[in-house]
Amino acid sequence: MDFTLELLDTTESTQDVIRDLAGNGEREGIAVMAIRQTRGRGREGHAWISPPGKNLALSILLRPRLKLPEAALMGLLAGVAVAETLAGMQVPHPGLKWPNDVLVNDKKIAGILSEAAINRSCLQYVILGIGVNVNSEGSDFPPEIATTATSVALCTGRMWDIQEVALKLLEAIKTLYERLPYEEFGFVREMWRTRWLHEGLLMRWGEKTGQAVGINELGALILKTPTGGTEVIVAGDVFPAYPQENPRSL
Ligand code: BTN
Repeated sequence: MDFTLELLDTTESTQDVIRDLAGNGEREGIAVMAIRQTRGRGREGHAWISPPGKNLALSILLRPRLKLPEAALMGLLAGVAVAETLAGMQVPHPGLKWPNDVLVNDKKIAGILSEAAINRSCLQYVILGIGVNVNSEGSDFPPEIATTATSVALCTGRMWDIQEVALKLLEAIKTLYERLPYEEFGFVREMWRTRWLHEGLLMRWGEKTGQAVGINELGALILKTPTGGTEVIVAGDVFPAYPQENPRSL
């Protein structure tokens, strides 16, 4: 499969551009990046806000042959591809927070929104939406994320060509994606786990806490609760209960 990258100036969300293309039967491999998104979307209904021209906003259409519950694993695959790409650009120790945030030094450098379209219980397509803070400087981040966000430029001490970053990323996704028909997701889970920052740590979600022990076959997070039970989380936000604890570095 070959990727085709289209560059837009301004759009509400590259996710919607790809969704419209997918609805018109567009083939998998089409990718769209935008210089400016006016209504960028994040996970869990959050907005994704990014100063125009500084960062990567990229969405990709894929039509993987998967059973419906496996669709979530595509987000993990994207997280692995982003972390590997950033590592290749000399970003130090990119790590993963479940399900697919990419962090450096405990600060978010990239986020992924994986959306699936379903028809009669069959997976039609997946849109991988990837936002990478590429050239943002400290003062570019809105106050609410100023202390929790970082960028490739801040981590490497140089500016990057955003389109070049997009092409590197598409290459990394292609490499992983093309292995799936032969190997299924075992290697993705393994690569994900190698970069996972919170293995063994006490995590909290809502009012609950539990020790992060792993991910299951479908990429859901497995936690051991203080009462000895097991919780399997398929979606949502889960944070380290003691953020000051040093995450494992690679
Ligand atoms: C998150 O961490 O909450 C996920 C952020 C995903 C942002 C990207 S930018 C490209 C694509 N278009 C969007 O509107 N969202 C995704």
